[in-house]
Parts: sequence; C-alpha cells; structure tokens
Amino acid sequence: MRVVIQDNYEKMSKWAADYIAAKIKAHNASGVKRPFVLGLPTGSSPIGVYKELVKKYEAGELSFKNVVTFNMDEYLGLPREHDQSYWYFMHDNFFDHVDVLAENINILNGMTNDPEGECRRYEEKIASYGGIDLFMGGIGVDGHLAFNEPYTSLSSRTGVRDLTTDTRIVNSRFFGNDMEKVPRQALSVGIGTVTDAKEVLVLISGHNKARALAATVEGGVSQKWTCSALQLHNAAIIACDEAACGELTVDTYKYFLDIEKKERI
Ligand code: GLP
Repeated sequence: MRVVIQDNYEKMSKWAADYIAAKIKAHNASGVKRPFVLGLPTGSSPIGVYKELVKKYEAGELSFKNVVTFNMDEYLGLPREHDQSYWYFMHDNFFDHVDVLAENINILNGMTNDPEGECRRYEEKIASYGGIDLFMGGIGVDGHLAFNEPYTSLSSRTGVRDLTTDTRIVNSRFFGNDMEKVPRQALSVGIGTVTDAKEVLVLISGHNKARALAATVEGGVSQKWTCSALQLHNAAIIACDEAACGELTVDTYKYFLDIEKKERI
C-alpha cells in the first residue's frame, strides 16, 4: 500500500487528479483498443479532484471520450432529479463539465423495481469491459468504502445495503440536517468489486477521518473497518492530507513521508 500525505485538501486533490490523468493518458498512448474504465465516488472528499479534472479538460490537456465510468453507489428510492441523488451529484460536479459520453456513464438505478437484478447486471457490465482499471473512492468516518458499512463481508459484491444510523446522521447534513429524510438503504458495489479493480485510489481528508485512516493503514484486516481490505490489494493508494494523519503512529507517518519523498506517479 502507498500512503501519499499532502499538506492539505487542495494538494491532495491535485495529486489525485494528476495521478488519474496520467493513468488515462498512459492507457490511451499504449494503443489499447478498449476504453479506460474508471470507478468513481461521491461525497465531499472527491469534489476537489473533480474540479481539477474539469480544469485539465478545459485546458485541453485531458479527454474523457475513451473513458467508461462506474459509480460506487446510489441511494435506494431517490430519483435521478433529486438533488441528493448520486446521479445528480455526478452530473452537477463532473459529467456535465467534461466530454465523457453519456452512454459510457454507469450509475446504479436507485428507482429500480428489481434491485437484485440491477446489481447483478452492474457486475456483469463491469466484467464485460474487462474490469475496472482504477477505482477512486472515499471513506466514511466508520471506514465504510462505498456503502459497505462495518461488518459487510470483505468479499461482498454489488448489492442492497442497509445504512447505519451513524451514516444517516453524518449524511443528514445534505438533507437539511433531517436524518429522517436520508434513505435507509442504498445500492452499492461490494468490497470485492472495489478490490477486483487493477488499482484503487482512496481519498481520506480531515480530522474526522483520522481513526479511519489509522484503521485502514495500521489496523488488522477486519470487516469492522471495511476499508482495511485495501491491505490485501496489490496496488492500493491512499491519498490523504495532514489533518487525517492525527491517529497514525509517528513511525508510520514518518515512513510514508520518507518513502514517498521522491515523487512518483
Ligand atoms: C457516503 C458515500 C461514500 C463516501 C462517504 C464519505 O456515505 N456512500 O462513498 O465515501 O459518504 O463522504 P465524504 O467524502 O463526504 O466524507
């Protein structure tokens, strides 16, 4: 696992956007016919990355024409037009501002009448592209990756998830601070779906994520902290800021600063 520690949220976002851009460009330059398959999250953590990627597109440095996207999760029961649906979030923050093709955007349908079928088809569609090249993610304060709350199997696949009261309280800030307005369930890729990706890049920012970062990096692999499954991944990167490092041991913190000193993308 790599842990890339940046001074603050802005620098973390810029680092992650540079990383993603470099991967897309390298893929296109390699002459491979298949598109680059990118997994994407919602939440406040990736907003800075989306801004940076939009800037690169606007500057003519980067195109998403050859990119297929799969989002991590979606609330069950929220229509696309709801301003807190993840469909809405993704279009508002990213898709509407770049040249990604509408037919290449994949987001679980939170209004489906057949949630199990929807999730099965999502997995099949990912497989039809040969899997995900790079899955970007964020984590919740309890370490949930996508909507895989504590004690979700570390080999889980895309499916229906019950949200914990804690997560609904945390997410109520987007629903007028009214927890009752936060859906109780979501559709989400599984931990196994994320760790099947060739590379995983998780953004962890702010003091409130410090325990989760420590559990991800230093704790044992445990379904209590579903993000800890990343320890078993062959190419996982955590991009974080100083504020999120507060619960790391000094040794771990110094180790990653030292090993990442020579910037490598
Ligand atoms: C939600 C999403 C997660 C996201 C998490 C953290 O629960 N389902 O995918 O990682 O929020 O959000 P934030 O980045 O706003 O802290």
